[in-house]
Amino acid sequence: MTTGHVLVIGGSSGLGLALAGLLLSGGAEVTIASRSAERLAAAAAHLRAAPDRLRTQVLDIRDEDGVRRGLEASVPVHHIAVTAADATRATGPLGGFQLTDARAVMDAKFFGPWLVGRYAAGHLPPTGSITLTSGIPAHRPRPGSSVTAAANAAVEGLVGALALELAPVRVNAVSPGWMDTPLWDTIAGDRRAERLAEMAARLPVGRVARPTDVAEAFVALMDNAHITGTVLHVDGGQRLV
Ligand SMILES: NC(=O)c1ccc[n+]([C@@H]2O[C@H](COP(=O)([O-])OP(=O)(O)OC[C@H]3O[C@@H](n4cnc5c(N)ncnc54)[C@H](OP(=O)(O)O)[C@@H]3O)[C@@H](O)[C@H]2O)c1
Repeated sequence: MTTGHVLVIGGSSGLGLALAGLLLSGGAEVTIASRSAERLAAAAAHLRAAPDRLRTQVLDIRDEDGVRRGLEASVPVHHIAVTAADATRATGPLGGFQLTDARAVMDAKFFGPWLVGRYAAGHLPPTGSITLTSGIPAHRPRPGSSVTAAANAAVEGLVGALALELAPVRVNAVSPGWMDTPLWDTIAGDRRAERLAEMAARLPVGRVARPTDVAEAFVALMDNAHITGTVLHVDGGQRLV
């Protein structure tokens, strides 16, 4: 089980919060980071089982100086997980989608992890790892998903290049399919339950992922000393249908 200090960027909600809980229950020290001090405080209250091993850090992954300072403040750090993404204005038909919104999606989902790779070098031990988050839009694009499809595919491209450049530090990604997190409040609003039920019926496994299903894959990638440059799909068979 993962030990040492793990920084989870995006740890105040959904997948990142589930990962923080799993790591704490396994005995790791954890820092959860995201933009909002209020959301971090609420997450820390939710994770109250191990307050002595939990820290919070306000960090916007789009801010280069913030990422650099955040990583310096986290030393010693053994593993970094990035789950941050903002679903607000992330999808929409090409004709109505603004370039500023498209760039904002790429800033958080792709350039953020790129900055983490850049500034983590030198802070992680040789046995350390970085685990990023891709996602099903890279493999099952839909009309309106041009930017999220491209952003997730870009993360997967980044993984191999970072795995070589930061070696022996290992770099991998987890690619979730549909997962029941607060992100769906933003995307589906009042239709959230209905949309999740529709999606579950279409999946070979018959249900959408719980955040812990996907968090367990992060822990597996952190723990296995011989996996690098890999994208691990945790999608309930979504790529097959
Ligand atoms: N849920 C799904 O069905 C699904 C499917 C495929 C892939 N994914 C991917 O899985 C990952 C986790 O998503 P989720 O469903 O857990 O979403 P979520 O519940 O909305 O959580 C997103 C987290 O990212 C943080 N965040 C957003 N922008 C940030 C920024 N600029 N800097 C730092 N932190 C930031 C948020 O906190 P603050 O607001 O405090 O910053 C929050 O902690 C994302 O990469 C998403 O694209 C999700």
